Amino acid sequence: MKIKNICCIGAGYVGGPTMSVIAQKNPKIKVNVVDINSDKIAAWNSKNLPVYEPGLLKVVKETRGKNLFFSTNVNQHIYEADMIFISVNTPTKTSGEGKGYAADLRYIESCAKQIAKISKNNKIIVEKSTVPVRTSEKIKEILRSNNSSVDFQILSNPEFLAEGTAMRDLEIPDRVLIGGDNTPEGKKAVEALVEIYTSWVPIENILTTNLWSSELSKLTANAFLAQRISSINSLSELCEETGADIEEVSKAIGMDSRIGNSFLKTSVGFGGSCFQKDILNLVYISKSMGLNQVADYWEQILIINKHQRDRFSKKILNCIAKNYLEPKALLLGWAFKKNTNDTRESAAIYVANNLINGGVSIDIYDPKVKESQVHRDLSFINVNYKKSSVNFVDKPFSNISDYNIISIMTEWDEFKDFDWENVYTKIKKPAFIFDGRNILNMNKISKIGFNYFGLGRR
Ligand code: NAD
Ligand code: UGA
Repeated sequence: MKIKNICCIGAGYVGGPTMSVIAQKNPKIKVNVVDINSDKIAAWNSKNLPVYEPGLLKVVKETRGKNLFFSTNVNQHIYEADMIFISVNTPTKTSGEGKGYAADLRYIESCAKQIAKISKNNKIIVEKSTVPVRTSEKIKEILRSNNSSVDFQILSNPEFLAEGTAMRDLEIPDRVLIGGDNTPEGKKAVEALVEIYTSWVPIENILTTNLWSSELSKLTANAFLAQRISSINSLSELCEETGADIEEVSKAIGMDSRIGNSFLKTSVGFGGSCFQKDILNLVYISKSMGLNQVADYWEQILIINKHQRDRFSKKILNCIAKNYLEPKALLLGWAFKKNTNDTRESAAIYVANNLINGGVSIDIYDPKVKESQVHRDLSFINVNYKKSSVNFVDKPFSNISDYNIISIMTEWDEFKDFDWENVYTKIKKPAFIFDGRNILNMNKISKIGFNYFGLGRR
């Protein structure tokens, strides 16, 4: 089956970049990305894309208006499509059964209902969103019980891109995973999606499995990645107590080819929209099957992550108290990692909140995050948050030597490249910089280590 018309529901961090690349690599396929959020769609149709991702604008400019379109006309594009990607958000439930743990599948379910209602011809439905194992079963049920005159084939095709390197990850993926039913129709659907990817991905990097293995592999991949970060972060505390150096330990263990050196950088804690939610989901699934030890094992990753953020905040508060400093700090970076404007679950939010609660007034700078987002993030985790607790600055470096406390929260290159030594060798007052692991006394150091830089996949 040759796919001619794709609809992707959800124009977010995954839908937008993924479909841009699919459109670029398959110029004969018409790709419509739809969303209920009209501001987002307007931004996708402008030069100020709603997602900041290096290299994205170039691909969008190349394809938009040719075979890539962004629209709020969800029904029309569902109707026209022969393949529909569901790429909507699957956040942690905030109420009802599984509150605080289970994935909220209401957006997925509402897409399935809408697809069933609108469809008049056979369609392949692709789960792009990260979902609990066996969600495809639910989608099938909704589709078939609401529309019995159309054949729907369901595929699972989880996305493994990391923000900040999304375009590279999409261009040269480690693997593309496609789960489908082991029936003649199911196999044909898998082949149709494989054909789209083979326009640029070598066939040996395309892995086909059954539906449930594919769904569970996505959750597991994120859990394994987060587990490595919590492992190294837990050891960073032990290093501080014993005099061992976490950078040296990380290097020493990472050189073992069985362990590998990726994702072994200590940090203030991992952020991002997915690690926490996917682990909570794994914990929920395990608990609901009575596998309490399995659930506890994975939950510990999140306990350590919170501990690391709290520990880091305490270091700053103690530093202020011990050195009788004015309770004021500059936080450099708000995004959860460099090269993205995404702030979801960023460690900066939690550290800032801890500092505000500790009576510290804070200035914040991030090259890509807007001030309104900072206020939204803080009021989301703290009902008593007042806008006046933080001050958003545009040019932090012009008066940087006025600060006694500077904390680098995101490893943006401009923070690494700044000439720190030149500033601080000139000043006499005590000043401290937190680089994601160490507190460095600015007056004593000859070189800032910035061991925190170079997080991520590549
Ligand atoms: P997002 O919040 O950026 O985008 C989701 C979009 O879906 C939103 O714009 C929302 O308005 C839209 N939407 C929701 N319901 C809709 C409906 N019924 N009709 C039309 N539009 C609708 O989310 P995201 O970061 O792109 O993540 C999407 C999924 O991909 C999640 O399941 C996530 O776990 C997974 N994922 C995310 C990443 C990442 O880096 N962000 C990577 C891999 C996988
Ligand atoms: C992560 C995975 O890497 C992707 O494969 C996956 O598709 C995605 O989640 C998802 O499902 O959403 P992402 O969260 O965008 O991608 O970014 P990462 O590079 O994984 O970084 C996540 C967090 O871990 C960041 O806060 C980063 O600073 C932190 N990190 C990363 C560390 O603290 N130490 C490291 O060594 C690496």
